[in-house]
Amino acid sequence: MRREHWGTRLGIILAVAGSAVGLGNFLRFPVQAAQNGGGAFMIPYLVALLFLAIPLCWVEWTMGRAAGARAHGSGPGILNTFWNHRAARYFGAIGVFIPIVIYCYYVYIEAWCLGYAWFALTGELADAARQGQAAGFLSAFQGLKENQWFSTMGAAFAFFIIAFLANFFVIYLGVARGIEALSKIAMPLLVILGMILMARVLTLGAPDAAQPDWSAFNGLGFMWNPDFGALADAKVWLAAAGQIFFTSSVGLGLIITYASYLKKDDDVALSGLSAISINEFVEVVIGGSIAIPAAFIFFGPVGVEAVAKGGSFNLGFVTMPMVFVQMPLAAVMGVLWFFLLFLAGVTSSVSMLQPAIAFLEDEFKLKRRQSVAILGAFTFLACQPAIWFLDKGVLDMMDFWAGTFMIVVFATGEVIIFSWIYGVDRGFEEMHHGADLRVPGVFKFIIKYVTPLYLIALLTAWFWQDGIDALLLRNVPEENFWYALGAMLGMAGFLALLVILVEIAWRRKEAK
Ligand code: ALA
Repeated sequence: MRREHWGTRLGIILAVAGSAVGLGNFLRFPVQAAQNGGGAFMIPYLVALLFLAIPLCWVEWTMGRAAGARAHGSGPGILNTFWNHRAARYFGAIGVFIPIVIYCYYVYIEAWCLGYAWFALTGELADAARQGQAAGFLSAFQGLKENQWFSTMGAAFAFFIIAFLANFFVIYLGVARGIEALSKIAMPLLVILGMILMARVLTLGAPDAAQPDWSAFNGLGFMWNPDFGALADAKVWLAAAGQIFFTSSVGLGLIITYASYLKKDDDVALSGLSAISINEFVEVVIGGSIAIPAAFIFFGPVGVEAVAKGGSFNLGFVTMPMVFVQMPLAAVMGVLWFFLLFLAGVTSSVSMLQPAIAFLEDEFKLKRRQSVAILGAFTFLACQPAIWFLDKGVLDMMDFWAGTFMIVVFATGEVIIFSWIYGVDRGFEEMHHGADLRVPGVFKFIIKYVTPLYLIALLTAWFWQDGIDALLLRNVPEENFWYALGAMLGMAGFLALLVILVEIAWRRKEAK
């Protein structure tokens, strides 16, 4: 079976940028920055960008393209190409595991964005916000309580089905006709929507005459004035590295899969850097100028502090609707914002499905229709716990283990295999094959020493800080114990299943 390829260079860059630009850019980033030292957060953030994200992105693009030429497009086959050992293939299963687990809750949040775009259009969201009921609207929508807006979670489930099917429709169309075509439309549209919202927020001035200090300018100041004292706190450095991983999509197993659909002479050095630059522009410039400054303008310095503490979801789904009703054209603003989030979400979530599709197609030689059906049935069931037990800590478990910890584990394995087992010199040569950019030689040193040590330090710190508690379920309230245990066992079982599948696939190949 012939493997697919991307249609154009711009297409793959936009697809990788689409994977990276997601809810993380618009919701997670501003909250992390505001909570962790404002402008000073940018120092550990840029250090992590330079020593983690950029080197790892070059490593992933290089590994993906080389393995794709040998018909491998997912973690097990890709790592096995660079280290021909069963340990590499088993470890590579993590590159299929992480994206699927993240998908199973990410798609639900994406569905909320779609639902909220709809309720912004119908005016129901604005009604709720005007009555100061935005939080109640959200919890009833999620099925956590009943009120005049929702008595069941039927609406949320209906939007989940729509978002779920939309993702699989794109995946079914394939890499070039589905993912690339979507990214070419969604990415420019998303940047335009983001710029419109940013321009609107920044030209609001100080709309409340009684509070002349609550201005757009001071809102930016709240977000960016540096508190250098924060840099002494290790937590700030961990948060910055966590944000860099989440936003740039490295270490998840996604970029290696996308890169496996490159042709063998396609550039990876400049393309990789371009995709990451688009993500940074959307995150720091656009993402940093909308939600937090807008909340500052309408709630002031004390209010925005509370908003930032309430977390990313609150900021996006509770605070922003309350902000919009105070602006002219509230409905339009609401639709633009939630549709923007939906587009950002869907270009990320399709990238979470492709590694498993590549695994089934490349290693089991299944047809597209078969792999889509198998993955569709599996993920539909696997999404249910995060939906029905939303307030029982299941989503948090999935987010910590797959969305934080395992990413760093996988990235560490990748970079060690690339630079120590395969050899950084050979790796660099491979990276420069067909390259339109010469990667500075100092990155050899960074990739071999700095990145792995940085990762090991992070891993240790995370495990120490949250991992032990998470493993022993000490951080879950007693009434949620069994749900959290179920989530842990479910994830462990899934990872074990993937390792067994890897073994079966390779045995079948060896028998041939
Ligand atoms: N990189 C994606 C995001 O930022 C997952 O949401």
